[in-house]
Amino acid sequence: MLGAATPALAASVTRVGGIGFIAGGTKFDALDKVVQQTVSLLSSHDSTPQSSHASDNVKPFGIGFQNWGCDKDVAVQIVRKHLPAIIWMYAPKHTSDFGDWARAIRDASDNRTKIWIQVGTVREAMDAMRAARPDVLVLQGADAGGHGLAQGASVISLVPEVYDALREGGMDEVPLVAAGGITDGRGVAAAIALGASGAVMGTRFLAAEEAGIAKGWQKEIIRVTDGGVTTSRSTLCDRIKGTVGWPAQYDGRAITNQGHADARNGMTDEENRRLYQEDVKRGDDEVWGTSGRQVVYAGTGVGLIKDVNPAAEIVMDTAREAARILQRHGEMFSKL
Ligand SMILES: Cc1cc2nc3c(=O)[nH]c(=O)nc-3n(C[C@H](O)[C@H](O)[C@H](O)COP(=O)(O)O)c2cc1C
Repeated sequence: MLGAATPALAASVTRVGGIGFIAGGTKFDALDKVVQQTVSLLSSHDSTPQSSHASDNVKPFGIGFQNWGCDKDVAVQIVRKHLPAIIWMYAPKHTSDFGDWARAIRDASDNRTKIWIQVGTVREAMDAMRAARPDVLVLQGADAGGHGLAQGASVISLVPEVYDALREGGMDEVPLVAAGGITDGRGVAAAIALGASGAVMGTRFLAAEEAGIAKGWQKEIIRVTDGGVTTSRSTLCDRIKGTVGWPAQYDGRAITNQGHADARNGMTDEENRRLYQEDVKRGDDEVWGTSGRQVVYAGTGVGLIKDVNPAAEIVMDTAREAARILQRHGEMFSKL
Protein backbone atom coordinates (compact mmCIF):
# COMPACT_ATOMS: atom_id res chain seq x y z
CA MET A 1 0.00 0.00 0.00
CA LEU A 2 2.67 2.40 -1.11
CA GLY A 3 1.81 5.91 0.14
CA ALA A 4 -1.33 4.72 1.95
CA ALA A 5 0.60 2.79 4.61
CA THR A 6 2.19 5.76 6.35
CA PRO A 7 4.59 5.50 9.30
CA ALA A 8 1.73 6.74 11.52
CA LEU A 9 -0.57 3.97 10.25
CA ALA A 10 2.00 1.19 10.69
CA ALA A 11 3.01 2.47 14.14
CA SER A 12 -0.61 2.75 15.33
CA VAL A 13 -1.37 -0.83 14.24
CA THR A 14 1.76 -2.25 15.89
CA ARG A 15 1.24 -0.23 19.07
CA VAL A 16 -2.06 -1.98 19.88
CA GLY A 17 -0.83 -5.49 19.15
CA GLY A 18 -1.38 -5.82 15.40
CA ILE A 19 1.50 -5.94 12.94
CA GLY A 20 1.89 -2.74 10.99
CA PHE A 21 3.47 -2.83 7.55
CA ILE A 22 5.12 -0.13 5.51
CA ALA A 23 5.52 -0.48 1.77
CA GLY A 24 8.79 -0.93 -0.02
CA GLY A 25 6.93 -1.03 -3.33
CA THR A 26 9.40 -1.48 -6.18
CA LYS A 27 11.64 1.57 -5.65
CA PHE A 28 13.19 2.33 -2.33
CA ASP A 29 13.96 6.07 -2.52
CA ALA A 30 11.84 7.05 0.47
CA LEU A 31 12.14 3.87 2.50
CA ASP A 32 14.96 4.95 4.86
CA LYS A 33 12.96 7.97 5.91
CA VAL A 34 9.73 5.99 6.30
CA VAL A 35 11.47 3.38 8.49
CA GLN A 36 13.04 6.07 10.67
CA GLN A 37 9.73 7.89 11.10
CA THR A 38 7.97 4.65 12.07
CA VAL A 39 10.67 3.81 14.61
CA SER A 40 10.55 7.26 16.13
CA LEU A 41 6.73 7.20 16.40
CA LEU A 42 6.90 3.84 18.16
CA SER A 43 9.63 4.90 20.54
CA SER A 44 7.74 8.07 21.49
CA HIS A 45 4.97 5.90 22.99
CA ASP A 46 5.68 4.05 26.19
CA SER A 47 2.67 1.84 25.59
CA THR A 48 4.19 0.00 22.61
CA PRO A 49 3.98 -3.71 23.50
CA GLN A 50 7.35 -5.39 23.83
CA SER A 51 7.22 -7.89 21.02
CA SER A 52 9.00 -11.20 21.16
CA HIS A 53 11.44 -9.67 18.69
CA ALA A 54 12.52 -6.83 20.97
CA SER A 55 15.46 -8.71 22.42
CA ASP A 56 16.77 -9.30 18.88
CA ASN A 57 16.85 -5.57 18.10
CA VAL A 58 14.30 -6.27 15.44
CA LYS A 59 11.98 -3.41 14.42
CA PRO A 60 8.41 -4.38 15.40
CA PHE A 61 6.85 -3.92 11.98
CA GLY A 62 7.11 -5.33 8.48
CA ILE A 63 8.17 -4.06 5.06
CA GLY A 64 6.38 -5.23 1.92
CA PHE A 65 8.04 -5.75 -1.45
CA GLN A 66 6.56 -6.41 -4.86
CA ASN A 67 9.20 -8.85 -6.06
CA TRP A 68 8.58 -8.46 -9.78
CA GLY A 69 9.98 -4.94 -9.83
CA CYS A 70 12.53 -5.05 -7.02
CA ASP A 71 16.26 -5.49 -6.92
CA LYS A 72 16.93 -8.31 -4.46
CA ASP A 73 20.37 -6.99 -3.50
CA VAL A 74 18.99 -3.57 -2.59
CA ALA A 75 16.21 -5.20 -0.58
CA VAL A 76 18.80 -7.28 1.28
CA GLN A 77 20.78 -4.14 2.14
CA ILE A 78 17.58 -2.68 3.59
CA VAL A 79 17.08 -5.78 5.72
CA ARG A 80 20.69 -5.62 6.94
CA LYS A 81 20.40 -1.93 7.75
CA HIS A 82 16.96 -1.85 9.39
CA LEU A 83 16.28 -5.40 10.55
CA PRO A 84 12.47 -5.38 10.21
CA ALA A 85 10.54 -8.12 12.02
CA ILE A 86 9.01 -9.22 8.73
CA ILE A 87 9.64 -9.01 5.01
CA TRP A 88 6.44 -9.50 3.02
CA MET A 89 6.87 -10.76 -0.53
CA TYR A 90 4.38 -10.72 -3.35
CA ALA A 91 4.05 -11.16 -7.10
CA PRO A 92 7.45 -12.41 -8.27
CA LYS A 93 8.20 -13.00 -11.94
CA HIS A 94 8.68 -16.67 -11.08
CA THR A 95 7.59 -18.40 -7.87
CA SER A 96 11.11 -19.85 -7.56
CA ASP A 97 12.35 -16.26 -6.96
CA PHE A 98 10.82 -16.51 -3.48
CA GLY A 99 13.47 -19.09 -2.62
CA ASP A 100 16.43 -16.85 -3.59
CA TRP A 101 14.95 -13.88 -1.73
CA ALA A 102 14.15 -15.89 1.40
CA ARG A 103 17.66 -17.36 1.59
CA ALA A 104 19.28 -13.95 1.13
CA ILE A 105 17.04 -12.25 3.72
CA ARG A 106 17.53 -15.01 6.28
CA ASP A 107 21.31 -14.86 5.79
CA ALA A 108 21.37 -11.06 6.02
CA SER A 109 19.31 -10.99 9.21
CA ASP A 110 20.75 -14.05 10.85
CA ASN A 111 17.25 -15.56 10.68
CA ARG A 112 15.78 -12.73 12.73
CA THR A 113 13.64 -11.23 9.94
CA LYS A 114 10.68 -13.50 9.26
CA ILE A 115 9.39 -14.18 5.76
CA TRP A 116 5.71 -13.71 4.88
CA ILE A 117 4.63 -14.59 1.35
CA GLN A 118 1.30 -13.59 -0.17
CA VAL A 119 -0.14 -16.00 -2.75
CA GLY A 120 -3.54 -16.42 -4.39
CA THR A 121 -4.00 -20.06 -5.45
CA VAL A 122 -3.43 -23.54 -4.03
CA ARG A 123 -0.71 -24.14 -6.63
CA GLU A 124 1.10 -20.91 -5.75
CA ALA A 125 0.85 -21.75 -2.05
CA MET A 126 2.47 -25.16 -2.56
CA ASP A 127 5.15 -23.76 -4.88
CA ALA A 128 5.98 -20.93 -2.45
CA MET A 129 6.24 -23.41 0.43
CA ARG A 130 8.60 -25.67 -1.52
CA ALA A 131 10.72 -22.76 -2.74
CA ALA A 132 11.02 -20.66 0.41
CA ARG A 133 9.44 -22.30 3.47
CA PRO A 134 7.96 -18.97 4.57
CA ASP A 135 7.28 -18.32 8.25
CA VAL A 136 3.73 -17.25 7.34
CA LEU A 137 1.68 -17.82 4.20
CA VAL A 138 -0.80 -15.05 3.36
CA LEU A 139 -3.70 -16.30 1.22
CA GLN A 140 -5.14 -13.51 -0.89
CA GLY A 141 -8.67 -14.17 -2.12
CA ALA A 142 -10.40 -12.62 -5.12
CA ASP A 143 -12.28 -10.06 -2.96
CA ALA A 144 -9.04 -8.24 -2.11
CA GLY A 145 -8.56 -4.59 -3.00
CA GLY A 146 -5.62 -3.49 -5.12
CA HIS A 147 -3.58 -5.93 -7.15
CA GLY A 148 -4.33 -9.63 -7.13
CA LEU A 149 -4.63 -12.59 -9.44
CA ALA A 150 -7.11 -12.00 -12.27
CA GLN A 151 -8.44 -15.50 -11.64
CA GLY A 152 -8.80 -16.93 -8.17
CA ALA A 153 -11.17 -18.03 -5.43
CA SER A 154 -12.37 -16.06 -2.44
CA VAL A 155 -10.87 -16.92 0.95
CA ILE A 156 -13.96 -19.01 1.80
CA SER A 157 -12.65 -21.89 -0.34
CA LEU A 158 -9.01 -20.84 -0.82
CA VAL A 159 -8.04 -21.05 2.86
CA PRO A 160 -9.45 -24.53 3.62
CA GLU A 161 -8.22 -25.96 0.32
CA VAL A 162 -4.68 -24.70 0.95
CA TYR A 163 -4.92 -25.94 4.54
CA ASP A 164 -5.81 -29.46 3.34
CA ALA A 165 -3.18 -29.47 0.58
CA LEU A 166 -0.47 -28.44 3.04
CA ARG A 167 -1.53 -31.16 5.46
CA GLU A 168 -1.42 -33.77 2.71
CA GLY A 169 2.03 -32.50 1.71
CA GLY A 170 3.31 -32.58 5.32
CA MET A 171 3.79 -28.81 5.40
CA ASP A 172 0.93 -27.79 7.69
CA GLU A 173 3.15 -26.26 10.34
CA VAL A 174 3.05 -22.91 8.53
CA PRO A 175 0.50 -20.41 9.91
CA LEU A 176 -2.00 -19.16 7.34
CA VAL A 177 -3.30 -15.60 7.25
CA ALA A 178 -6.38 -14.72 5.16
CA ALA A 179 -6.61 -11.56 3.05
CA GLY A 180 -9.43 -10.22 0.91
CA GLY A 181 -12.77 -8.72 1.84
CA ILE A 182 -12.12 -8.75 5.61
CA THR A 183 -13.08 -5.48 7.26
CA ASP A 184 -14.30 -6.35 10.75
CA GLY A 185 -14.37 -8.97 13.50
CA ARG A 186 -16.92 -11.08 11.68
CA GLY A 187 -14.49 -11.51 8.79
CA VAL A 188 -11.62 -12.33 11.13
CA ALA A 189 -13.72 -14.92 13.02
CA ALA A 190 -14.71 -16.47 9.68
CA ALA A 191 -11.06 -16.59 8.57
CA ILE A 192 -10.13 -18.41 11.77
CA ALA A 193 -12.99 -20.87 11.31
CA LEU A 194 -11.64 -21.58 7.82
CA GLY A 195 -8.22 -22.56 9.16
CA ALA A 196 -6.33 -19.25 9.25
CA SER A 197 -4.46 -17.99 12.30
CA GLY A 198 -5.16 -14.36 11.52
CA ALA A 199 -6.24 -11.85 8.93
CA VAL A 200 -4.85 -9.05 6.80
CA MET A 201 -6.88 -5.90 6.25
CA GLY A 202 -5.97 -3.49 3.47
CA THR A 203 -9.11 -1.66 2.34
CA ARG A 204 -10.33 -1.14 5.94
CA PHE A 205 -7.18 0.84 6.72
CA LEU A 206 -7.76 3.13 3.73
CA ALA A 207 -10.44 4.56 6.02
CA ALA A 208 -8.01 5.03 8.90
CA GLU A 209 -7.24 8.58 10.02
CA GLU A 210 -3.55 7.85 9.41
CA ALA A 211 -3.96 6.57 5.81
CA GLY A 212 -1.89 8.50 3.29
CA ILE A 213 -4.51 8.77 0.56
CA ALA A 214 -6.41 11.64 -1.03
CA LYS A 215 -9.56 12.77 0.78
CA GLY A 216 -11.59 12.03 -2.37
CA TRP A 217 -10.41 8.41 -2.33
CA GLN A 218 -11.22 8.08 1.37
CA LYS A 219 -14.69 9.58 0.86
CA GLU A 220 -15.35 6.97 -1.82
CA ILE A 221 -14.39 4.16 0.57
CA ILE A 222 -17.03 5.44 3.00
CA ARG A 223 -19.69 6.18 0.36
CA VAL A 224 -19.66 3.02 -1.73
CA THR A 225 -21.82 0.02 -0.84
CA ASP A 226 -22.44 -3.41 -2.37
CA GLY A 227 -18.78 -3.98 -3.20
CA GLY A 228 -19.32 -7.06 -5.36
CA VAL A 229 -21.06 -4.83 -7.89
CA THR A 230 -19.46 -1.44 -7.35
CA THR A 231 -15.88 -2.72 -7.58
CA SER A 232 -14.40 -4.74 -10.42
CA ARG A 233 -11.16 -6.44 -11.42
CA SER A 234 -9.32 -5.07 -14.43
CA THR A 235 -5.91 -4.00 -15.70
CA LEU A 236 -7.35 -0.61 -16.71
CA CYS A 237 -5.93 1.23 -13.68
CA ASP A 238 -2.39 0.06 -14.53
CA ARG A 239 -2.87 0.91 -18.19
CA ILE A 240 -4.04 4.48 -17.61
CA LYS A 241 -1.55 5.16 -14.80
CA GLY A 242 1.28 3.69 -16.85
CA THR A 243 2.22 1.13 -14.18
CA VAL A 244 3.96 -1.41 -16.35
CA GLY A 245 5.73 -4.62 -15.45
CA TRP A 246 3.20 -6.56 -13.38
CA PRO A 247 3.30 -10.28 -14.26
CA ALA A 248 0.53 -11.09 -16.76
CA GLN A 249 -1.64 -13.02 -14.30
CA TYR A 250 -2.33 -9.92 -12.14
CA ASP A 251 -4.95 -7.21 -12.38
CA GLY A 252 -6.43 -4.93 -9.74
CA ARG A 253 -9.73 -4.47 -7.90
CA ALA A 254 -10.96 -0.88 -7.79
CA ILE A 255 -14.24 1.01 -7.58
CA THR A 256 -15.75 1.00 -11.06
CA ASN A 257 -15.87 4.51 -12.54
CA GLN A 258 -16.23 6.42 -15.80
CA GLY A 259 -12.88 5.15 -17.08
CA HIS A 260 -14.06 1.54 -16.73
CA ALA A 261 -17.40 2.36 -18.41
CA ASP A 262 -15.67 4.09 -21.33
CA ALA A 263 -13.20 1.20 -21.75
CA ARG A 264 -16.14 -1.22 -21.89
CA ASN A 265 -17.76 0.94 -24.55
CA GLY A 266 -14.69 0.81 -26.74
CA MET A 267 -12.66 3.90 -25.77
CA THR A 268 -8.97 3.45 -26.58
CA ASP A 269 -6.45 3.32 -23.74
CA GLU A 270 -4.76 6.37 -25.20
CA GLU A 271 -7.93 8.48 -24.92
CA ASN A 272 -8.79 7.04 -21.50
CA ARG A 273 -5.28 7.90 -20.26
CA ARG A 274 -5.54 11.44 -21.63
CA LEU A 275 -8.86 12.03 -19.84
CA TYR A 276 -7.48 10.48 -16.64
CA GLN A 277 -4.47 12.79 -16.73
CA GLU A 278 -6.74 15.80 -17.24
CA ASP A 279 -8.68 14.76 -14.15
CA VAL A 280 -5.48 14.34 -12.14
CA LYS A 281 -4.52 17.92 -13.06
CA ARG A 282 -7.97 19.25 -12.09
CA GLY A 283 -7.79 17.44 -8.78
CA ASP A 284 -11.18 18.64 -7.49
CA ASP A 285 -13.94 16.59 -5.86
CA GLU A 286 -15.62 15.68 -9.13
CA VAL A 287 -12.69 13.60 -10.38
CA TRP A 288 -13.62 11.00 -7.74
CA GLY A 289 -16.70 8.79 -7.77
CA THR A 290 -18.65 6.88 -10.36
CA SER A 291 -18.52 9.66 -12.94
CA GLY A 292 -14.87 10.45 -12.20
CA ARG A 293 -11.69 8.82 -13.46
CA GLN A 294 -9.37 8.76 -10.46
CA VAL A 295 -8.18 5.29 -9.48
CA VAL A 296 -9.83 4.11 -6.25
CA TYR A 297 -8.43 0.71 -5.32
CA ALA A 298 -10.78 -1.08 -2.91
CA GLY A 299 -11.88 -4.61 -2.06
CA THR A 300 -15.43 -5.97 -2.08
CA GLY A 301 -15.65 -5.37 1.67
CA VAL A 302 -15.85 -1.63 1.00
CA GLY A 303 -19.62 -1.62 1.67
CA LEU A 304 -19.01 -2.57 5.30
CA ILE A 305 -16.86 0.50 5.96
CA LYS A 306 -18.93 3.42 7.22
CA ASP A 307 -16.51 5.68 9.08
CA VAL A 308 -12.97 6.97 9.16
CA ASN A 309 -11.41 5.91 12.48
CA PRO A 310 -8.03 5.91 14.15
CA ALA A 311 -6.11 2.78 13.09
CA ALA A 312 -5.67 1.65 16.71
CA GLU A 313 -9.43 1.73 17.20
CA ILE A 314 -9.95 -0.31 14.02
CA VAL A 315 -7.53 -3.01 15.23
CA MET A 316 -8.96 -3.17 18.74
CA ASP A 317 -12.64 -3.15 17.68
CA THR A 318 -11.95 -5.85 15.10
CA ALA A 319 -10.05 -8.06 17.54
CA ARG A 320 -12.69 -7.67 20.27
CA GLU A 321 -15.54 -8.43 17.88
CA ALA A 322 -13.76 -11.54 16.56
CA ALA A 323 -13.06 -12.74 20.10
CA ARG A 324 -16.71 -12.21 21.12
CA ILE A 325 -18.00 -14.16 18.12
CA LEU A 326 -15.58 -17.04 18.53
CA GLN A 327 -16.32 -17.29 22.24
CA ARG A 328 -20.10 -17.13 21.78
CA HIS A 329 -20.08 -19.81 19.10
CA GLY A 330 -17.59 -21.93 21.01
CA GLU A 331 -19.98 -21.97 23.98
CA MET A 332 -22.99 -22.60 21.75
CA PHE A 333 -21.46 -25.74 20.22
CA SER A 334 -19.54 -26.99 23.27
CA LYS A 335 -22.36 -29.34 24.32
CA LEU A 336 -22.61 -31.20 21.00
C1 LIG B 1 -4.59 0.36 -2.09
C2 LIG B 1 -4.00 -1.00 -1.95
C3 LIG B 1 -2.66 -1.21 -2.24
C4 LIG B 1 -2.09 -2.47 -2.11
N1 LIG B 1 -0.77 -2.64 -2.37
C5 LIG B 1 -0.19 -3.85 -2.17
C6 LIG B 1 1.22 -4.02 -2.35
O1 LIG B 1 1.93 -3.08 -2.70
N2 LIG B 1 1.75 -5.24 -2.12
C7 LIG B 1 0.98 -6.30 -1.69
O2 LIG B 1 1.51 -7.37 -1.44
N3 LIG B 1 -0.37 -6.17 -1.55
C8 LIG B 1 -0.95 -4.98 -1.77
N4 LIG B 1 -2.31 -4.84 -1.58
C9 LIG B 1 -3.12 -6.03 -1.27
C10 LIG B 1 -3.06 -6.41 0.20
O3 LIG B 1 -1.84 -7.06 0.45
C11 LIG B 1 -4.18 -7.35 0.62
O4 LIG B 1 -4.11 -8.55 -0.11
C12 LIG B 1 -5.56 -6.78 0.45
O5 LIG B 1 -5.63 -5.43 0.82
C13 LIG B 1 -6.55 -7.58 1.27
O6 LIG B 1 -7.86 -7.32 0.85
P1 LIG B 1 -8.76 -6.10 1.37
O7 LIG B 1 -8.23 -4.90 0.66
O8 LIG B 1 -10.13 -6.49 0.96
O9 LIG B 1 -8.56 -6.01 2.85
C14 LIG B 1 -2.89 -3.57 -1.70
C15 LIG B 1 -4.25 -3.36 -1.39
C16 LIG B 1 -4.80 -2.10 -1.51
C17 LIG B 1 -6.25 -1.91 -1.16
